Parts: sequence; C-alpha cells; structure tokens
Amino acid sequence: MPTRRTPDQLRSYRWFGPNDLRSFGHRSRARQLGLGPEDWQGKPVIAILNTWSEINPCHLHFKVLAENVKKGVLQAGGMPIEIPVLSLSENFMKPTTMLYRNLLAMEAEEVLRCHPVDGAVLLGACDKTTPALIMGALSADMPFIFVPGGPMLRGQWRDQTLGSGTDAWKYWAELRAGNITQDDWCEIEDGIARSHGHCMTMGTAATMTAITETLGLSLPGASSIPASDARHWRMAAASGRQIVENAWNDLNPAKFLTKEAFHNAIVADMAVGGSTNAIVHLIAMAGRAGIKLPLSEFDAVSRLTPRLADLRPAGRFLMEDFYFAGGLPALLNQLTDILHTECPTVNGKTLGENVADAVIHNTEVIRSRDQALSPEGGTAVLTGNLCPDGAVIKHSAMEERFWTHSGPAVVFKDYEDLAARLDDPDLPITADSVMVLQSAGPVGAPGMPEWGMLPLPKKLLEAGVRDVLRLSDARMSGTSYGACILHVAPESAVGGPLAFVRDGDIISLNVPERTLTLDVSDEELAARRAEWQAPKRKVDRGYLHLFLNEVTQANEGCDFRFLHHTGTPTPEPRIH
Ligand code: FES
Repeated sequence: MPTRRTPDQLRSYRWFGPNDLRSFGHRSRARQLGLGPEDWQGKPVIAILNTWSEINPCHLHFKVLAENVKKGVLQAGGMPIEIPVLSLSENFMKPTTMLYRNLLAMEAEEVLRCHPVDGAVLLGACDKTTPALIMGALSADMPFIFVPGGPMLRGQWRDQTLGSGTDAWKYWAELRAGNITQDDWCEIEDGIARSHGHCMTMGTAATMTAITETLGLSLPGASSIPASDARHWRMAAASGRQIVENAWNDLNPAKFLTKEAFHNAIVADMAVGGSTNAIVHLIAMAGRAGIKLPLSEFDAVSRLTPRLADLRPAGRFLMEDFYFAGGLPALLNQLTDILHTECPTVNGKTLGENVADAVIHNTEVIRSRDQALSPEGGTAVLTGNLCPDGAVIKHSAMEERFWTHSGPAVVFKDYEDLAARLDDPDLPITADSVMVLQSAGPVGAPGMPEWGMLPLPKKLLEAGVRDVLRLSDARMSGTSYGACILHVAPESAVGGPLAFVRDGDIISLNVPERTLTLDVSDEELAARRAEWQAPKRKVDRGYLHLFLNEVTQANEGCDFRFLHHTGTPTPEPRIH
C-alpha cells in the first residue's frame, strides 16, 4: 500500500501553507482569482495542461474536455487549475511540428515545476503533443495522467470509407494518374475529416496514445474511445478523480516507469502496426525516464510480436472499428505472455490486471493470437554501410516484392530539388529505381519533416506504378504507406553516408536480413567524404539556433542533449 501524504506534505503547501509574507501573497492572489481557503486548504492542486488552440482541429474539443477533468478533480476533493500550453497542430505548423516537440516538452516541464502543483492531467492527441507532454511531465517528476483526445469519426466519400492521411495519399495518386476527377477530389476533401479528434487511422496520434496507455500513463481503455463519444467525457472525469488520489499517494510515473514498461509499449506498437514515428518518440520518452532504448530493442520485439490489429494504413479498418472490437485492452489481453504484466499503471493496478477481462468483439478488426495477420510486428530496423546508426521501415505497409530489392539510385539533394524535377519527363527513373532524398533529417531539413513518403513521378503513376523503393533521413506520416526507408542515421547533413550517394549507385534492401547497403567500395566512399562539405545553415537564430545545436539524431530520439535525464534531480524552485 502506498504511503498517503499528509496535507502539509503536499508540494502546493509550500506556496499556500506557511504563515509568512510570501504565502500571504500567494493566498491573497488566489483570492483575487475568486478562490478561498475552501478551494486550496488540505487539497492537492491539479494542473490541467491544455493544448487547445483554435487552429488545432484535433484538439477542438479540449475546452469541454478540460471541464470534465475539472469535474472529476473537484469530485475527488482536489483543486483544478487549467494552464494553456503550446498546441502542436500537425497540419498547419510548418515546416513540421517535430521542430517544436521539444519546445512543448520544455514548456510542460517548466510550467509544472514553477507552479504550486501536486499533480497534472495532460490533454494531448495530435501527433507530437503526446510525447512532448509526457517528456516534460517525466522531467518535472510528479504524478500525472495523460488524457488522450480520442480519434475523430471515420471519413466517408459516397460509399467509400476514408481514413485520415492514408486515403488522401491514395486518391491524390489516382487524381494525378487521371483516374478520378477534380470534383471527386473536392468531395473527398469535404468528407475525410468529419469531427473533432485526432486522425482515425493507426497513424502517429493513435499509435502514441496506445503506447501511452500501455506504459500505464492513461486509464485502461482510454486511448480507443472516439473523441465525440460521451464515454470520452466520462473517461476524462475519471482521470480527474484518479489524479487526486495519485497526488495524495505520490504515484509518480517518473518513478514507476521501467525498461519493462517500455518493452510493453514496443509490443503494443508492433501489434497495432503502429507508426514509425513512435520509435523516435519512445526513445525520447524513455530517455527522460533515464532508460536507454537502442534501435535493436525495437527489432527484437518486432520479431516476437504478432500483428493483430487490421487498421489502416497497414490494414483495412479505422479506430472506431477498433474501439467497438474491444480496443487496446482486448488486443493486449492476447499478448500477456510477451508483456510484463506486473508493470504498474496510473490506476494503481498492474497492466495485467487492467486487461485481464478484456475480450475481442470482432475478430476481423482485432485478431486472436492464433489468427494473427502476421507472425511479426509491422516495423523493422535496418543496418548497413548506408545507415551505420540504423534506419527503419514499415514493411507491413508496403508491397512484399520490395522486401528484397536492388536498384539504381535517383538522388534528390533536398526537397526543393525533388519538387523541381519530380515530374520532369526526362527524369531517368523506372519502377526498379531507388528514390533517394538527402537533407531531410533533424538538422538538414531542419526538424526531420514527414517527407519520407516521396511522391511518385507522374510518368510512373500514369504507367500504373503505385510503389517505388524510397530512402531518406526524413520521417513519414503514420498514416502513410509504401516502400519507404526512413530515419537513416546519421543523417546526410551531418556527414552520414547518405550524403555520398550518387545517381546510379546500386542500393540493396533485404528486410528478412534487416540490411540496407550501398554498393560502393569503402575507398570510394572515403574519397567522396573527403570532397564533401557540410551544408551552410540557412537560418541560425532564435529557437532554431538552439534546435540545430542541441538536437540528437533519430536513433537517439531527437531530444535536446541538455534535456536528457542526468540522474540528478532538478531542484525545486525556491519560494521567497
Ligand atoms: Fe492531428 Fe493527425 S493531424 S492527429
């Protein structure tokens, strides 16, 4: 049984409790907020970090979501304080929200540390908000619960179900190939995003919230509930009640997250056919808990984890189907022999206890263990002379004929070069070529945007080609698909071998053997390296200066070096 804190052991007591001039100031200003002693005396203060913004459609419901969390906090005898933080709106922020993940993580950490807070509820959903908030809260080192924003309703075009991102890429290729009309395309635009909530494919958002629940940071079942379902409000209120209890008991994820919990998260990622982005984020989140997650760990877990969820982009169904099929608990229930079921979670129970009674209601959407979609997970980690520090590929979302493939490189030196030459009728490319994009990594782009699903040249599309092997140091959207090798590390902009690839070089991929090789001799590579000059920075001021100087490579999670867990706690702020 956890030791329950007394009121004067609460962190917020340091602000409100003492009989001195400084606490007088805090209490008088709390009264200015319309609060009285009945609000704060002997009550845990719960911060609700709200990533609502008018330009983030995935979080459009977060004002009401926060009200439901507050209701739960009040019901349990806590004092809720809503604090707005940066909203990372995947679609609208350029060049990429990944550039700002660490900024939100820093903001979350500092906002929690500097205020009179005993626990936190984190409201996130759209891709980067989930890892950012969790990274920050882990570094702030206090009890927290993550409330996932929930997936939006399924998209619809006439009699066709539409999945976020996935069907946009699909129909864009059909439009470019002349198979649908501009009017069809406009109708698809009108029907692909029908409600608030995050993308409803198993993209990065759904992958990250599933992982978060598996880590034990959300209430069981929370991540699968559709955003517009009334059960979502009730889950938020339950999270509010739970965090008050956790604040009293100091149930702190920074203390209970272990390497085993991260193993569980990777199992979930592989079993749902999750986004490749989850690898970068999980490494960064684990780093904040002082746990090293090498890429080899992902590959090892992928090899032992069957893929059970038949969800787009790798499969057929959408998140609403997943929820009604039993959701994440039903899926995890199938995997208890490869999960560390003893891992604690935020509701005070173990992961195993939370999923023990979960059942599958639709075995088309969530396969039982003996009917797995594939015996292995959906993502593989590659090594070889082209990626000394690794690369990843989502082989579950590509045509199997590319699993072993060799072809000549067609190199684009950056995204502008790609855009300028892609549809050049004289581009020397065939269906067997390997499209290579350089300068798209954390430093090169900068921010490692989701450029990894390189668009296919129009002349190949018109010839009926729908997939080509593509290679870059970028990421790709979790809703994307195709034969895309991603996260090549080290990236080209810092002198990784990707920088030295030239047109016509033969590149070989072997997914079963997990290799990615450039058929160029070591001597020739050394000669090319000697000639190479690092690209000049286009911008070098402000936040970008910090980012470029401090960001780590993809295999290290792209966190800032100075934010890594050091083992020495950051001191509490002095109150004087
Ligand atoms: Fe927000 Fe996809 S755009 S989750």
